[in-house]
Amino acid sequence: MMKNCDDKITLGCSFDCWYGYGIKQPVSVDISVKTNSHILICGMSGSGKSFCENILFAKLAEKRPDSECYFADYKQEDNFHYLRGCSRYFPYKRTLEALDSVYGILQKRQSGEDESRKPVTLIWDEYVANILALQNEDKKKAATVMNRVSEILMIGRSLAVRFFCSCQRPDASVFPSGSRLNYGIIMVLGAPIQSIYEMLMPTEYISRIEDREFRTGEGVLLLQGSELHFIKVPMVRDVERMQELCIRALTE
Ligand SMILES: Nc1ncnc2c1ncn2[C@@H]1O[C@H](COP(=O)(O)OP(=O)(O)OP(=O)(O)O)[C@@H](O)[C@H]1O
Ligand SMILES: [Mg+2]
Repeated sequence: MMKNCDDKITLGCSFDCWYGYGIKQPVSVDISVKTNSHILICGMSGSGKSFCENILFAKLAEKRPDSECYFADYKQEDNFHYLRGCSRYFPYKRTLEALDSVYGILQKRQSGEDESRKPVTLIWDEYVANILALQNEDKKKAATVMNRVSEILMIGRSLAVRFFCSCQRPDASVFPSGSRLNYGIIMVLGAPIQSIYEMLMPTEYISRIEDREFRTGEGVLLLQGSELHFIKVPMVRDVERMQELCIRALTE
């Protein structure tokens, strides 16, 4: 139950309540440092990953206005066009600059040089596609990037450094040392793809999906590796307000 409302954000509505009873039942998650709030959104092209990312980004920024965010947009998508003027927005070939900054903060906090704990979030759209492209160009560099991301995933929580990424398929090979286990919030959107479910969930959880058919912006939510929900990400009512929150988190 909701013990501390201040540390919760709503990710969407219950899929079953929406379709079964026509009710908007919010599904919320804890984003405090007590829990792992690294976020992974997966799903095939067009499943609604980037759309959902915008919404969650705005919610994180709204909940903690002191957040400092960095945005790596490998595909330089239309969904994020409005972020292009922001100082901490890094498209295409510049995505590694976002990682360098956030990894630098992690190291300073880890060594004790930086004792502040204001929330820092690195958002990386199409992370896996970016790694695969890097591997083709420079294998060593790709390995360094993956190891840094793994380190953020493994020790970031207590240092208030969060990783939030989207990808089509979260293959274990791009999350070295089993670091994929550190995502506290996992969403798989769109049409069910058995192989993606198998990467992220035990068989008994997959069987609980039964015959549900997920469309764009709908799917499975797994919290802390143990709490399973089926959700629907609703349309955004106030796009301008959402964009304003994200722009501020990438600028101030
Ligand atoms: N929750 C939603 N409700 C209604 N429409 C949605 C929702 N999410 C996404 N859409 C629509 O679906 C389309 C695809 O969404 P989006 O671009 O977020 O997908 P994606 O998974 O990021 O795809 P890609 O892998 O190609 O980047 C968009 O045009 C968007 O308007
Ligand atoms: Mg996208």
